[in-house]
Amino acid sequence: MKFAQASSLLLLAGLANSCLLPEERAGGSIRKSLNRRQGNSGKAVGKGDRFNGGSSFPRGLGSGNATDMSTILNVNEVATGLQGLVNEYGITTFATPYKTYEGRTITGAKIGGTGSCNTKYHIYLNGGIHARERGSHDSVLYFISDLLYAQKHGTGLTYGKKTYSNADVLKALSTGIVVTPLINPDGVNYDQTTNSCWRKNRNPKSSNSRDPQSVGIDLNRNFDFAWDLKKWAPSVSSDVASANPSSEVFHGTAAFSEPETQSMKYILDTYTKVRWFIDLHSYAGDVLYSWGSDTDQSTQPYKNFLNSTYDSVRGITSDSTTTRYGEYISSQDLNNVRTAGDRFGAAMSTAAGRKYTVMQSAYLYPTSGASDDYAFSRHIADPTKNKVYSYTVEFGFGNSQASCPFYPTVAQYTSNLQETNAGFIEFLLAAADIGLE
Ligand SMILES: *[C@@H]1O[C@H](CO)[C@@H](O)[C@H](O)[C@H]1NC(C)=O
Ligand SMILES: *[C@@H]1O[C@H](CO)[C@@H](O)[C@H](O)[C@H]1NC(C)=O
Ligand SMILES: [Zn+2]
Repeated sequence: MKFAQASSLLLLAGLANSCLLPEERAGGSIRKSLNRRQGNSGKAVGKGDRFNGGSSFPRGLGSGNATDMSTILNVNEVATGLQGLVNEYGITTFATPYKTYEGRTITGAKIGGTGSCNTKYHIYLNGGIHARERGSHDSVLYFISDLLYAQKHGTGLTYGKKTYSNADVLKALSTGIVVTPLINPDGVNYDQTTNSCWRKNRNPKSSNSRDPQSVGIDLNRNFDFAWDLKKWAPSVSSDVASANPSSEVFHGTAAFSEPETQSMKYILDTYTKVRWFIDLHSYAGDVLYSWGSDTDQSTQPYKNFLNSTYDSVRGITSDSTTTRYGEYISSQDLNNVRTAGDRFGAAMSTAAGRKYTVMQSAYLYPTSGASDDYAFSRHIADPTKNKVYSYTVEFGFGNSQASCPFYPTVAQYTSNLQETNAGFIEFLLAAADIGLE
């Protein structure tokens, strides 16, 4: 499916419609297709624990003799898989200080780096923020499993048509990587046990009993980046996020109202030298770089998300950035974030032979409160904070036969994993080349 290219061309041509992201657009048609496609949930979700509480450990696709991947990893297997990696490789895992609404712990891991103190980690990879985007947490967990195996055994890694040497693996690891494979465990547990194509978390705080869709917050609209809808042009403010709890893009009662987004902020606050960040989503076949608010411009620094003068015009990507508004990014930063994006997008395209598009986030659709914009905006809102080059990666191309197009087929799951994992290692190598400090 070429949703992404089509929507970006439409927006570029000034024909911006009031539709949502491919993700949400697909979501909107789901209730219709549910009746027709009932029963087809794509590749099945695992029911047991293939890591036996951590007594065996995950192996990804890249290192050969992978874990049994006949099913998708369930929520518990993310925890037992991480425990397996602790047992096998002695890595460090941690819990963020915030429990989810249903009482789950959000677990992270840190690998590589040139020393163990927090300032030696320059990369942050996040998975599973949108519950139904199946394969996201699998991609992150299996990727670090591959890096660790290849390090320990002195081997390289192969993802489809992309091959990396052991020297590449060591260089990739030297960047210092923090991961949260599954940031939205409540949402994923609900989605996996109901096949309901669930996107949000499961916090019922703003819900009403008349509409089951009113449960949950869209975590990727809950970050503190132009969260207030008053910061957006009236013509786009109902699309960049929503104050309606029944919406798929309900942004919560305040920025950072949710333990999941608080956990991601905690990681950026704790690992103060993170320079590069990917939030892993599906599906659109896109690598999206900053900004996601409005068209990038590098000549007028005063036109930025902090300046309320532009609240009435922010988010209209079809207008002129010179006379109206575009989001400021220095030409050096734009060059860096594009260069790395082009490089790892090309690796994703080569891995399984499906073409990824590398473009600015806002050309997919302008968004309020998204993680990539928040991460990159931190150093502008507070100059004591580190600059974080940020991406939203939309892996995969959708399953038109399933009740929910985010549920991959068996074959799509494998291609998705090859693409995300080749993309991740190329991203780390690009980050090392462009700079970590
Ligand atoms: C592959 O992994 C399985 C399970 O861990 C193991 O029993 C088998 O010996 C491995 N095969 C090779 C060729 O390494
Ligand atoms: C905001 O934009 C206005 C209009 O261009 C400008 O005069 C003002 O200096 C800007 N404010 C900041 C803080 O840059
Ligand atoms: Zn998503």
